[in-house]
Amino acid sequence: MTVPFYRHQLDESHAARMAQVLSTPHLTYGSVARRVEAQISNFFGSANVALTNSWSAVAFAVFQSLGIGPGDEVIVPAMTFVASANIPLLCGATVKLVDVDPATLLLNPEKVSEAISPKTRAILCVHLYGQMCDMLALRRIADSHNLFLIEDAAHAFEATRQNIIPAMLSDAAIFSFYATKNINCGEGGAVVTRNNALYETVCCFRQHGMSAGAADRFKNKYYQHWDVEGPGMKGSLPDILATLLEPQIDTCLARLEERDVLARRYRARLSELGIRFAQPLPDGRHAQHLFPIHVPAKVRDQVVAGLNEAGIGCTVNYRALQDLSLFKEQSVDAPIAKEWGDGTLSLPLYPGLAHADQDRVMDVLTAVTADYGEDMKPALQAAGAGGT
Ligand SMILES: Cc1ncc(COP(=O)(O)O)c(C=O)c1O
Repeated sequence: MTVPFYRHQLDESHAARMAQVLSTPHLTYGSVARRVEAQISNFFGSANVALTNSWSAVAFAVFQSLGIGPGDEVIVPAMTFVASANIPLLCGATVKLVDVDPATLLLNPEKVSEAISPKTRAILCVHLYGQMCDMLALRRIADSHNLFLIEDAAHAFEATRQNIIPAMLSDAAIFSFYATKNINCGEGGAVVTRNNALYETVCCFRQHGMSAGAADRFKNKYYQHWDVEGPGMKGSLPDILATLLEPQIDTCLARLEERDVLARRYRARLSELGIRFAQPLPDGRHAQHLFPIHVPAKVRDQVVAGLNEAGIGCTVNYRALQDLSLFKEQSVDAPIAKEWGDGTLSLPLYPGLAHADQDRVMDVLTAVTADYGEDMKPALQAAGAGGT
């Protein structure tokens, strides 16, 4: 029996939606994508929404629109997917990697305060694995230093914390609809923002700076000219993909219940085994995007290989950014991210994962980690990081 790391839930009903778009002459960004933007806006309490073809594309548009570039510093957590750092770097800014909280692995506000310099322009916080950062603390810090606060909400569409939702306290919250995300369409992204000017600039940017996209150029029967006031690039989400999102957004909270049950089952069994996992916060809704655990660094790769050999899909989310060659010139003080990154691996977690399959994942994990006996000790000592 094999248990894949991830299985999407798109079926014939989604294929029928794509066929419906195919039956129209308009495949690219148009009325369907606009309907999904309105749906997302409604989900986040009437904020502006621009759908794009990836998190990365819209993050680039956001940083460009905010004028962040050479000479500026952006604070990014050291524990995240590299995209969070790549985009400010691509814009010409310097990235300052900051450490995370040992229990949740979320950006540590105290470390953010310490990292601020006269060059700092923005904090990019990451709602890692599905839990929101401490937005109240980060907003206070951003306000007291006049910084932009941008949320990498790629893992956290459904998340809340202290009754705060993404895009409520920040300049922009950026989402990913990449193939493995809780809501996905292969490749896709969106920005949600309460800043009208930023929204307008991003919308223009995602269509090469043109004042009218394809849908608008032909809407009055006769072709209409368009203008370009600034540079841009291609970035909008086509209707043929946007149509996959609509039913998933409608059902995301119901589907989250299944993720919650699976996460609780993992936590109960892993607590017995004494294996560390990211601690769930008591005051919010966890989007349960990933289920990472931590084993001693010296056995991590063997545990991954042992699981894979038994037909269990698992992956690493993530090695600390300072361990990537891209950052080798930087001196980074982020020991918590480093320690987590050296020992973490993620277990399968998705709606549709049968409990029998999940039990097998845990049985194999138990057997594989037992093989490493004494070497598992440090993980056992660090146990107790989370309740159930
Ligand atoms: C935390 C985080 N940020 C950003 C991204 C980039 O998203 P996209 O692939 O849509 O550009 C990802 C994608 O996996 C991610 O996990």
